[in-house]
Amino acid sequence: MYRLQQESEADEPEVEALYDLCFAPGRTALSSYRLREGVDPVRDLCLILRDGEGILAAAIRYWPVRVGGQDALLLGPVAVHPTRQGEGLGAMLILQSLAEAARLGWERVLLVGDLPYYQRFGFRRLDGVVMPPPTNPDRVLGLELRTGAWEGVTGAVMRACPGAD
Ligand SMILES: CC(C)(COP(=O)(O)OP(=O)(O)OC[C@H]1O[C@@H](n2cnc3c(N)ncnc32)[C@H](O)[C@@H]1OP(=O)(O)O)[C@@H](O)C(=O)NCCC(=O)NCCS
Repeated sequence: MYRLQQESEADEPEVEALYDLCFAPGRTALSSYRLREGVDPVRDLCLILRDGEGILAAAIRYWPVRVGGQDALLLGPVAVHPTRQGEGLGAMLILQSLAEAARLGWERVLLVGDLPYYQRFGFRRLDGVVMPPPTNPDRVLGLELRTGAWEGVTGAVMRACPGAD
């Protein structure tokens, strides 16, 4: 049995440790982290899953970004503890957070990731949306929470104003 909660400040060290475990060393050198620097995450959408004993099993975070003068959500990082992968926890976090994002009025989401995994949630390759280099354009994926929300929205992905979320 897992408990879904919003990430609190007290959870932060455990979430960072989970990300360190699940991603290659130097993850914060990735270009997507430049978009997060000095910007608050969208706290309503930063969710964690703990098991019945309170052990952290999975986490997801989101940041606001700007693309072509429009607001967008940057999904990630999302990670599931290696001993719990393949149980559907990643899907649960992604689906719950996307539903909440839609409820809060967000219209479009992007991420850098594997299409074979994210296409099951409706993500498609985003043509003309450019993440800071070096990013493989085939891994820049988008989802519309409002029909047509990515139509005509192109350009470089930019940091949102610091403090704005
Ligand atoms: C990617 C991740 C979040 C998925 O969470 P999860 O709880 O293990 O996945 P789910 O149980 O929701 O889904 C499992 C399915 O996804 C598939 N899958 C997982 N990662 C995949 C990937 N990178 N590419 C393609 N398919 C993938 C599994 O093969 C499995 O397929 P099946 O349903 O056909 O059996 C998790 O494996 C993880 O934390 N990985 C390490 C960190 C990472 O890569 N994060 C994502 C960065 S883009």
